[in-house]
Amino acid sequence: MQVHPKSRPIFSEIPLIGVLKKHFAEMDIDVDLSNNTNPFLGTLGNYPDLTQKSLKKHYWQVISSLNQPADYTPQKIDEIIDQHILFTVGSSEGIDLLLRSFAEPNKDTIAVTEPSFPAYEHWGKLHNLQIKRFKLKEENYNQLDVDDIIKENPKLVFLCNPNNPTATLLDTEIIDKLCRSLDGFVIVDEAYIEFSGISSAIYDLSRFNNLIVLRTLSKAWGLAGVRCGAVIAADPLVINTLRYIQIPFGFPTPSQELVANRCAFPQTMIASWEQIRQERVKLVKNLSNLSVVKKITPSDVNFFLMELNHFSTVMAFLNQHKIHVVSCDNEIANSIRVSIGTEKENQKFLKAMSLISDSLT
Ligand SMILES: Cc1ncc(COP(=O)(O)O)c(C=O)c1O
Repeated sequence: MQVHPKSRPIFSEIPLIGVLKKHFAEMDIDVDLSNNTNPFLGTLGNYPDLTQKSLKKHYWQVISSLNQPADYTPQKIDEIIDQHILFTVGSSEGIDLLLRSFAEPNKDTIAVTEPSFPAYEHWGKLHNLQIKRFKLKEENYNQLDVDDIIKENPKLVFLCNPNNPTATLLDTEIIDKLCRSLDGFVIVDEAYIEFSGISSAIYDLSRFNNLIVLRTLSKAWGLAGVRCGAVIAADPLVINTLRYIQIPFGFPTPSQELVANRCAFPQTMIASWEQIRQERVKLVKNLSNLSVVKKITPSDVNFFLMELNHFSTVMAFLNQHKIHVVSCDNEIANSIRVSIGTEKENQKFLKAMSLISDSLT
């Protein structure tokens, strides 16, 4: 199996493991006596499907019907989509595989934006990489000093769009310019894109060979318990490379079935996004009137960033009331990230916020 020419040199020293050889060679097997499994206890006695060809097609059909640009025409990769997708154990595994495949420890640099999802930096550090942070600028955190990133010549750039924790969107020209100018890979983590309705970077895959999109089924798809994410790459050799080091069989058969079912019946999932939007609009409107709320950054997704007055007092109060939100104070002073919950959960949060507001005025 051919791996990407930019993969780490160690790839050429380590042969493909046996079980992958069997699948990649697409051998015509009638009797398989190679697995040492128990044949007497039903179908879960077999290892999960490793190629997931039809599931990839069904997944692509759903996602490519969403987040389309205005001038969308079906892409060339539609026909060979299974070569461009790798399902992973959440998108977390995708991040880890990319770092371990393309960045050499104690040598290479990766670029991350600030503030953003901390996992890129966390695993990057564990992998002994140099981390360069680039600030998201302007009130809506949608600008970056792209030329500074290009000067740094990183092996991988991680962009999160919409961004966690700010819920904001990158200026589209940024992704284009980085893809055009960088030798390394541009990774666009679209964990929350389905909520937003903005155009996805998957529609740019046919334009940029160094573009990689990360998706997860943990958020809008409502399948966090299934542990499924997807790496979608312009270049099939990227997928080969990740697969080369991925621990085989991490996508269990029952999880594959649940994803297939969601793909076959996506309507309930899509309808729930409108429910979330309505809850967000309501919650944000009510919170905006409270004295402890200084600013809420506009959001199109299932969470929002909120700057507080009396930050420590409010956090202690929420804690006392067993309400957990994420503190972003280290990155953005006095700010928290709040996920949209059920109507009942949102009401409880609003009530606690109203109580503490009243007691401080
Ligand atoms: C931006 C972003 N990317 C990736 C992930 C990882 O999600 P998972 O591993 O559940 O797919 C998260 C989870 O919070 C996230 O916010």
